Formats: sequence, C-alpha cells, structure tokens
Amino acid sequence: MSILDNNLELTRQIEQVAEVAGYLWQKGWAERNGGNIVINITNEINSSISDLTSGASPFRSPFSVLRFPFSTPLPHLRGCYFFCKGTNRRMRDLARWPMDNGSIIHILDDGAHYEIIADKPVMPTSELPSHLSVHNYLIAKGSPCKASLHTHPIELVAMTHHRPFLEKDVLTKILWSMIPETRAFCPKGLGIVPYLLPSSVALGEATLNTLDEGYDVVMWEKHGVFAVDTDIMSAFDQVDVLNKAAQIYLSSRSMGFEPEGMTEAQMQELAETFGLSLKNTQIL
Ligand code: 13P
Ligand code: ZN
Repeated sequence: MSILDNNLELTRQIEQVAEVAGYLWQKGWAERNGGNIVINITNEINSSISDLTSGASPFRSPFSVLRFPFSTPLPHLRGCYFFCKGTNRRMRDLARWPMDNGSIIHILDDGAHYEIIADKPVMPTSELPSHLSVHNYLIAKGSPCKASLHTHPIELVAMTHHRPFLEKDVLTKILWSMIPETRAFCPKGLGIVPYLLPSSVALGEATLNTLDEGYDVVMWEKHGVFAVDTDIMSAFDQVDVLNKAAQIYLSSRSMGFEPEGMTEAQMQELAETFGLSLKNTQIL
C-alpha cells in the first residue's frame, strides 16, 4: 500500500521527481547521496492522506508518532506537506524507487515540528533547513514556486574555486554571455553564497537572503547550486541552462582561448525580447 494509491496528481509529481533524479545522476551531478529535492505537495493532499495525521487511516504507522523539531519555527508552513529526498539516499535510487528513498513529511500546527507520514520511515535530507526556510519564504510571498532543488553541477562548482568569479554578478555576466538561452531563461542570474557548512541553518539563511535579493538560482561556493521553480522539472532546467553556459566557458578555455562572449548590447536585446515574455512574472 502506498500513499500514492488513488492520487493521480501526487503520483505524477513523484514521477517527475524520479525523472529529474535520474537526470541528475546521468549528468554526473549526484555522486553518492549528493543533492536533494523537496516539493510542496500540500495541494495534492486529499482526505485519505489528511487522515494519516488524525490517526484514522490504515497508512498510519508507528514512525508517524515521532515529532522532529526545527531550529527556528516556520510559521507559513503550518499544516503543509512536502515530499523530500531522504538523507544519505542516492539520486539514482530515488529515480527508480522514489517512495523508498524519500518520504512525505507533515508540518505540525506549531510550525516548529514535523512528522514523517509515508510511505517509509525515511529521514528527510540534511539540507532541510535551507529547503524549508525557502518554502516558508515562498509561501509568505505568495509565490507559485513549489519545488526546490540542490545539486552539485561539476562545471559551475569548479568556477567557484576562482576568487574573482565570486565578486558580485561576475559569474552571472560570464554565463549570460556564453549562449543566448542563459540570458533568456535565467534573467535574474546567479547569486553567490560564500562557503558555509553543508546543512547548516546559516546556509539556509544565506540562501534565503540571496533569493530575496532577486536572483533566480543560488550558488553555494565550492559545493553546489540551489534553485526554486514552479515544479521540479523547471528548477532542473534552470540549473541545466546555467551549467551548459559554464561548460561552454570551460570548453573555450580548454581549447586555449578566452571566450569572446556576447556583447552587452546583444544581451540587452535578449533581455528585452525574451526576458519579459519567457519569464513574464517575478516568480519570487
Ligand atoms: P542529503 O543526503 O542529506 O540530502 O545531503 C546531500 C547533500 O548534497 C548535502 O549538501
Ligand atoms: Zn550538497
């Protein structure tokens, strides 16, 4: 028995998570347990799932009596449900068996604890502080974004090992100038978070602040990226577009030349022609 039974929309969303998890592995961005995915599935909760938290459902299992605390309360998440990759679980396993390598959590009414409700007692990702503080912020802002993705894209991470690239908007401008899609599909660019301990609350706060500055995607120095979007496929697309630009930059350098890049005028033209029509709403 699975919580997905008789819930077509939830099943569709979990299948999309599995598809993206497979892409992350194929791209080489998901060594061992690297990366995590969290999606807000509150709208997909039907009455049979809600019963899980009232104790009336046959799904209810002993692990759902455990309550796990947050370090800081997240008031906008009260009563919400999320599917999360499990900590220490492999993306390549999430791709094949999503409900064995991830779990659904329910945020309790105090906004300060969560419980794991289905299908298996899988502890959610260690990067939950970053994911949930961002989801709390998205809900507060009335954003339609429901998915957050953290992954380790090789070329983008490599570029953060070069100090001059970490200056404000230097990396964004290089990446925008490599191929038109980057300017069009990541119009607000890549914000940089200086190195912080993985899974720390401080990393979550810095990620939130960087998204609040208006960036599309956040780069965690020497670690990985963090992207949000309406669904997990779109979040993946943003990282894919940015990493393609990084690959073009590095391919040029490995052929022995500094890539010319598009001109400011060409990028401005792209912003005017595509920026507003392709991403016509501020998603954050
Ligand atoms: P988890 O296995 O806890 O999701 O951690 C992976 C990771 O990439 C940490 O930054
Ligand atoms: Zn990571």
